[in-house]
This record gives sequence, structure tokens and C-alpha cells, in this order.
Amino acid sequence: MKKLINNKIFLVTGSAGFVGFHIAKRLLEKGYIVHGIDLMTASYYDPFLKHSRLNVLLEYEGYHHHKIDLAESFSVKLMQKEIGHIDIIIHLAAQACVLRSFEFPNEYINDNIVAFQNILEIYSHNNSTLLMYASSSSVYGQSEEGSIIKEDKQTDLPVSIYGATKIANEAMAQSYYSYYKKPIIGLRFFKVYGPWSRPDTVFFKFVDLIYKDKPIIIHNHGNIKHSFTYIDDITDCLLKTTIEPLKQQNYSSRHPIYNFGGKSILLEECIKAIEITMGKKAIKKYVPLPKGDRWYTFADSSLAQNNLSFNPNTPIDKGIQKFVEWYTKDYISIMDINSK
Ligand SMILES: NC(=O)c1ccc[n+]([C@@H]2O[C@H](COP(=O)([O-])OP(=O)(O)OC[C@H]3O[C@@H](n4cnc5c(N)ncnc54)[C@H](O)[C@@H]3O)[C@@H](O)[C@H]2O)c1
Repeated sequence: MKKLINNKIFLVTGSAGFVGFHIAKRLLEKGYIVHGIDLMTASYYDPFLKHSRLNVLLEYEGYHHHKIDLAESFSVKLMQKEIGHIDIIIHLAAQACVLRSFEFPNEYINDNIVAFQNILEIYSHNNSTLLMYASSSSVYGQSEEGSIIKEDKQTDLPVSIYGATKIANEAMAQSYYSYYKKPIIGLRFFKVYGPWSRPDTVFFKFVDLIYKDKPIIIHNHGNIKHSFTYIDDITDCLLKTTIEPLKQQNYSSRHPIYNFGGKSILLEECIKAIEITMGKKAIKKYVPLPKGDRWYTFADSSLAQNNLSFNPNTPIDKGIQKFVEWYTKDYISIMDINSK
């Protein structure tokens, strides 16, 4: 049990998810009170992993879990009444698996759009001082090879329902921002990876399959390049942004939205780093790009670097090493316990 030393109250949604777990844990380590919301459903991965993350959070005195559906406005209002005052809301709950979004579009509309509206409502009608919400690089749709993505790139050509819901989130946030004039910050994450990450993400799948001596499936015949972002680089920045008083900024007609992307790296280079770390060669199977997927992203994150001190400086081999260490030590034993 860790001692409580700080009184600021945070609401972190999706707290048993990958990103939410990391930010909630960092806040708890600093002694803050965290109310976490997560429905703990299976969707695209084994909820046992969510329960394992939650067990870590529950070790902290300052953590309070609310297993509610954010898409149900009644439950959200009731929870807000129970908690009372909230200083800062970090909204990360969503259906996050891009390729599944054409299969289950209703879930994406419900959990990404309806749920976010409920969050915007409680934020706008209480005395919280900041709302940060997860958007995604998917708002940009397909990018041309060699192009560098800045925040002002057009966002009206999504290639997935998932991307469309994140564009809708940004528009909803903007309308609440312009009406209520309360600070809101949008975070466009680019391929986040690291310990405790989602089993449906590319590095997780590769490490898992290589560990089990099974072939890895490489999309777009290997021609894939993305801005991969190490989780601690994001949580370091979010922690600073939420804890330090926000610099007094002039009210602007647009709410700030930032790219959060690491260096753009060829997937084949990442596979090499995985092979070296695991001391094992991958069995590779090359396939075309699935519909609704993207093969190239290159984030310009200089705005977040300048305004929020975002510093995506974890080298890919270091980040992959940390992930592989977690997978081989912790994840394997978590899943062993699950299978008993
Ligand atoms: N991980 C990435 O690479 C990445 C990239 C871009 C954007 N994002 C965004 O960041 C956020 C966090 O992603 P993640 O990787 O941690 O995903 P995740 O799936 O691990 O976490 C999301 C959590 O939200 C919860 N949730 C979903 N709908 C809910 C509802 N209606 N009520 C209560 N809880 C609900 C889920 O149970 C899950 O634990 C998401 O908004 C995602 O779209 C993530």
C-alpha cells in the first residue's frame, strides 16, 4: 500500500486499458487521488490482462475503481455525484482496435462517441479545470510516402470507422470548448507501445508469435513505416501537463490538439530489434495491406515538444527491449495464472 500525499483529484477513463493504466499509475505514484473508470469487457483482448493491470492500481490507497459503462449517461452522472469534485479528467476509454471497427461499427459509435459526449457533459457542468482526451493519428487517413504530418493536415478523409469516431470526438470537443470556454486538450497518439500494451498491436503480436515459434504476418508486403511512440515518453509529458499549472494562454477560438508521435521507423527495422532482443529469428509471411489499415505515418510532434515539453527520445531498440522483458517475465506468468 503506497502512502497518499497529494490531494488533487483525477478522473482517468479507460484506466484498466494500456495507456490509462500507465497514466493512472504514474499519478498514484505521485500521491494523487485517481478515480478510474473501466467496464473491463473483452472486445479485442483477454480481460484478464485488464484485471491484472487493475490489480496493480488497486494496491495504491489513492485509487478508486468504477466499473461503469461510459455510454450510459445515467451511470456517468451517478458516478460523478458519488465522487463529487474532480480536478482533471483524462479521457482514454474507447474501442481502440482500428481493423475491428468495420466489423462492429455500433460499438465504436457507442464507446467512442456517445461515451465521450457524456464525459464532455460532466466536464462542462462541474468545476474541473482541464479535460484531456485521446484522439488518434487515424484522423489523418492515408498519408503519402515521404510526407510529414503536422496538426494542420486535413482530417476529413478517414479510412476506418475508428478514424471517423476520433474526428467526431475532435469536433465535439471543439463545440463544447467554444460554448463553455473551459480548457480542453486533444492528444493525437501515434502507435503507442511498451510494457502492458494491447495484444492486438503489432509489436505485441510479433513478440508473441516469435516466442511461440509461429510465423508473423507482415502487411503491405513489408512496406510499412510508422511513428512508433514509447509509452513513458507520453506519460512523462501528460504528467507534467496535468500537474504543473497550465501556462496562462490567451483564449483561442480552437482548442489545442497535439501530435504525440515518436520517430518514423521501418517495420523491418523494428522486427530486427525484436529478433536481436529475443535471440530468435522470425518466420515471416508477407501479405497485402488489409482494407482500412494504413502503412505510413511520420509525425511532426514539434508543437507538443514546444508547448508541452513532449520529448519522444526513447530509442526503438530500448523500447522494444523493455517490452520484450515485460512480455517474457510478467505477461507469460500472468497468462499462466489465467490458464489455471
Ligand atoms: N495504443 C495506441 O497505439 C493508440 C493510438 C492512437 C490512439 N489511441 C487512443 O488512446 C486511448 C487508449 O488506448 P489503449 O491502447 O489504452 O486502448 P485499450 O483498449 O487498452 O484501453 C481502452 C479501455 O477503455 C475501456 N472502455 C471502452 N469502452 C468503455 C465504456 N463504454 N465504458 C467504460 N470503459 C470503456 C476498455 O475496457 C479498455 O480497457 C484510446 O482512446 C485509443 O483510441 C491509442
